[in-house]
Amino acid sequence: MGYFQMKSLRVRPVRRLSGEIHVQGDKSISHRAVIIGSIASGTTTVTNFLTSEDCMATMRAFKAMGIPIEEFDSNKLKIHGKGLDGLAEPPDVMDMGNSGTSARLLCGLLAAQTFFSVITGDNSLRRRPMKRVVEPLRQMGARIWGRRGGEYLPLSIQGGELKGLSHRMAVPSAQVKSALLLAGLFAKGKTAVEELLPTRDHTERMLEYFGIDLTREGAAIAVEGGQSPSSRDIEIPGDISAAAFFMVGASMLEGSEIVIKGVGINPTRTGIIDILQEMGASIEMDNLRVMGGEPAGDIRVKSAPLKGVEIKGEIIPRSVDELPVLCIAAAAAEGETWIREAAELRVKESDRIAGMAECLSSLGVEVETFEDGMRIQGAERLKGTVCNSRGDHRIAMSMAIAGLAAEGETLIEDTECIKTSFPMFEETLGKICEK
Ligand code: S3P
Repeated sequence: MGYFQMKSLRVRPVRRLSGEIHVQGDKSISHRAVIIGSIASGTTTVTNFLTSEDCMATMRAFKAMGIPIEEFDSNKLKIHGKGLDGLAEPPDVMDMGNSGTSARLLCGLLAAQTFFSVITGDNSLRRRPMKRVVEPLRQMGARIWGRRGGEYLPLSIQGGELKGLSHRMAVPSAQVKSALLLAGLFAKGKTAVEELLPTRDHTERMLEYFGIDLTREGAAIAVEGGQSPSSRDIEIPGDISAAAFFMVGASMLEGSEIVIKGVGINPTRTGIIDILQEMGASIEMDNLRVMGGEPAGDIRVKSAPLKGVEIKGEIIPRSVDELPVLCIAAAAAEGETWIREAAELRVKESDRIAGMAECLSSLGVEVETFEDGMRIQGAERLKGTVCNSRGDHRIAMSMAIAGLAAEGETLIEDTECIKTSFPMFEETLGKICEK
């Protein structure tokens, strides 16, 4: 997983961004395609699969559980799903690397199997909270052990029979919701998950795409146990979380105009577009279509003067992974930007409030932090800097975008992590940079 590799990225200012690009497949949807394809009966062909470290961790886990998965170039997979009862005991510990999605979703699935398994992860993942999935799973009857009573990986899971549960999530989390729905598919009776704020609904969409009946009541989503998904080919849209970096870059750099083709625009993920538009950005969508049960389209971004905004409430889960790059947009905007009610940022791949505050300060930006967010004062100019990603892919890529607009050179240390979500980042950015 490259714990000790400290590759760095040197970024020099560019004049503007221009041209047409594709971004790699959506990370959240790629994980789910492997998981649901593996427990479906029959062959699922996945196109535009994201071959990043995180999604490869999920794929390795299913191979270790006996699912034949063929990989072809151009990001195509053939998953030979073995149905609901088809997984086999993995002979060794399964390493989820840096991927919270793999760890949490698999926790739900593994709790319902007939076998024993152990999952672990890298330095960052072993510090991330797991009780949010472990506790409700235990209420369903799961037997899970881990450090600090099951708060931290490694987790040992003795799979067994589960019973349905009605659960109200304390923190808005698509990973928790998904883990419980996956466990619920195997449980006796109905499993219902209620969310206080809507989070990404890719699991629900994909389960329905694979023929599972789900019921919705208010803010709760429920699945009746014992239903088997049937295989179906799936084309994965481009990742809006990857597109976000270029959307911010093109908005900031005067004279820019880019088109990002075939991006997923599921409304539970488009907070980045809503926030940038509120800041004054020029963003248009066309060529709207449906890919694998998910809305997608082309996104055209032209540069525009940005102004500070307040970001809080329901938009937080809809933009949670894009808040680091939105910090860069805020730094280049006129006036103040406030991010509040975003304490979840403290428990992502790194503490993103502390990490981004440190990076913004080194760019010469005035920033104040709170337990649940930050205040960023837009700066007249950003100055090139030397900064460290703390092993967090989104901080690394956000700082690369800042570097395009900063004076002088920006050196970002510890950028190997970019591979976890967007291995083609540098190459894709290179296609639209005009010196
Ligand atoms: C994800 C959900 C989000 C997000 C993560 C991917 C998913 O996490 O931050 O990058 O694929 O379900 P939470 O659901 O824990 O907020």
